[in-house]
Amino acid sequence: MIKIVINGALGKMGKTVINAVSNEKDMTFVKGLDADDNLNNYLKDNKVDVVVDFTRPESRMENVKAILSNGAHAVIGTTGFTDEDLDQVKKWCSEYKKNVIIGPNFAIGTIFQMHFAKIAAKHFDTAEIVEYHHDQKVDFPSGTAVKTAQLMSEERDKFNLNTKDKVANIEGARGGDFKGIKIHSVRLPGMVAHQEVIFGATGQYLTLRHDATSRECYMPGVLLSIREVINRTGLTYGLEDIFGLS
Ligand SMILES: NC(=O)c1ccc[n+]([C@@H]2O[C@H](COP(=O)([O-])OP(=O)(O)OC[C@H]3O[C@@H](n4cnc5c(N)ncnc54)[C@H](OP(=O)(O)O)[C@@H]3O)[C@@H](O)[C@H]2O)c1
Repeated sequence: MIKIVINGALGKMGKTVINAVSNEKDMTFVKGLDADDNLNNYLKDNKVDVVVDFTRPESRMENVKAILSNGAHAVIGTTGFTDEDLDQVKKWCSEYKKNVIIGPNFAIGTIFQMHFAKIAAKHFDTAEIVEYHHDQKVDFPSGTAVKTAQLMSEERDKFNLNTKDKVANIEGARGGDFKGIKIHSVRLPGMVAHQEVIFGATGQYLTLRHDATSRECYMPGVLLSIREVINRTGLTYGLEDIFGLS
């Protein structure tokens, strides 16, 4: 039995994960913790195998350290990890001899969208990303959009070199910039999580679109990560390898 704590248990994702874990025969949901609890103190007094964290970007590093330093593996859905953060997480993994899977997106459709975007990026030198989320999401752009742009930029150094967007009528209207890839964040009630990666070329454009219509779409990836994290070594960032795509 894999003993599991869910951090962020009162949140939208936390509640969905508790439900999913509770239906699995090889997993035991031990405890749900949230903003008013002390994760570090709880883990000092209670030994568990895996902590699943869906909280807030501000607490991402503090939570990872509390999990690893108290002898548990971590499956992290919380977004906001920078390259420097990932380096630090790797160090903690080797220091505490525990493993971490950080999934910028646990939905298999998104994993494939990112994979296809990386392939297309070899052949298209112009691309933009539009991500759409519910209006309660605090951070922008989404971790998935950043991860998609990172994967695409492994195929070429700079995108959109010939775009003539020099005159701004409203600052910021062209979105954020990751190595020339413009990233646009839409926040509206009624939406869950959606992303378009649009590639342009003379006389054609290609749109790769993924729509998450409910939070259940993340659960197969979260459950798979809980089982995988026990047997992997160190940090796994993204689920491509787990799905055999890297
Ligand atoms: N990787 C993925 O596939 C994926 C998918 C969906 C969402 N996400 C990410 O997952 C995170 C949570 O999303 P959500 O939609 O579930 O948000 P949410 O509904 O706001 O839930 C977050 C919960 O965590 C609590 N919390 C805040 N700081 C905490 C701390 N230090 N320790 C413990 N609990 C804390 C919040 O309490 P308060 O409200 O009192 O602050 C809230 O109950 C976000 O970063 C989101 O971007 C990732």
